[in-house]
Amino acid sequence: MEQIPRKAVIIGASSGIGAALAEELSRRGYILGLGARRTELMEKELQPRLASPSYATFMDLMDIESSIQALHDLIGQMDGIDLLVINSGVSGSSPGMEREATENLIRINVLGFAGMLHEAYRIFQKQGHGHIVGISSIAALLPHPNGSAYNASKAFVSNYLDSIRLRIRRRGENISVTDVLPGYVLTPMTEENKRMFWVANVEKAARQIVDDIESKRAVSYVSRRWRLVAWLLSLMPRAILNRIL
Ligand SMILES: NC(=O)c1ccc[n+]([C@@H]2O[C@H](COP(=O)([O-])OP(=O)(O)OC[C@H]3O[C@@H](n4cnc5c(N)ncnc54)[C@H](OP(=O)(O)O)[C@@H]3O)[C@@H](O)[C@H]2O)c1
Repeated sequence: MEQIPRKAVIIGASSGIGAALAEELSRRGYILGLGARRTELMEKELQPRLASPSYATFMDLMDIESSIQALHDLIGQMDGIDLLVINSGVSGSSPGMEREATENLIRINVLGFAGMLHEAYRIFQKQGHGHIVGISSIAALLPHPNGSAYNASKAFVSNYLDSIRLRIRRRGENISVTDVLPGYVLTPMTEENKRMFWVANVEKAARQIVDDIESKRAVSYVSRRWRLVAWLLSLMPRAILNRIL
């Protein structure tokens, strides 16, 4: 019997991990909806490389209402959705603690993330199935003197995904939730960062994330060795951690 292709939307598909996830999901036969601000990158560079049908649209998470509308437009074009990946995020080392930069980061990484997560949950509840994936970070697990807003935003993402998963389990709903915590992955976001280690290339990271999505893992560490770091961090008393950092 012929298999019905699965349908995935990636929010933040124009570069880096999001674009690599699009390529990997497409190789595995998914029909794709792609959202981001840089539509030219998606239409001219990404879509020609994809093996399966795809639809791209403008999405700016600074404007949650119009992003939700764009999500519904994509779902309409694909005629359904099984998987939503919320990948959009901005980094921000902010030694000066500038308020505007911090607020923008929070609007995208926190409010934008939560807005799309809520809408996906509502859609999946209504249709009785679905899979929500959020791209958090190992940064969620520790503080940082210059990345306070970024690390805190990723702590929000991971904690929120954990809480939604608990809620879904209690209610017996048929919705999966995967929290992805990358360590360092070489992308436009990190290419200037000279202090990285255990750096994964973006194609390998995407393969691993999609493997974990398909096995419905609750938490995905990318690359896998970061699981050990996460475990050590979970054991470390806060006072000791704060002294080391
Ligand atoms: N690279 C790493 O080492 C690493 C490690 C841990 C976690 N992460 C997380 O992985 C995710 C992807 O990052 P990346 O490394 O692949 O960086 P990237 O290449 O800069 O990708 C960021 C993506 O987010 C989208 N985005 C940014 N602002 C947006 C907005 N206002 N509305 C909608 N989309 C927006 C961008 O699209 P447009 O600019 O076209 O809108 C782009 O597609 C982020 O959440 C990041 O925090 C990355």
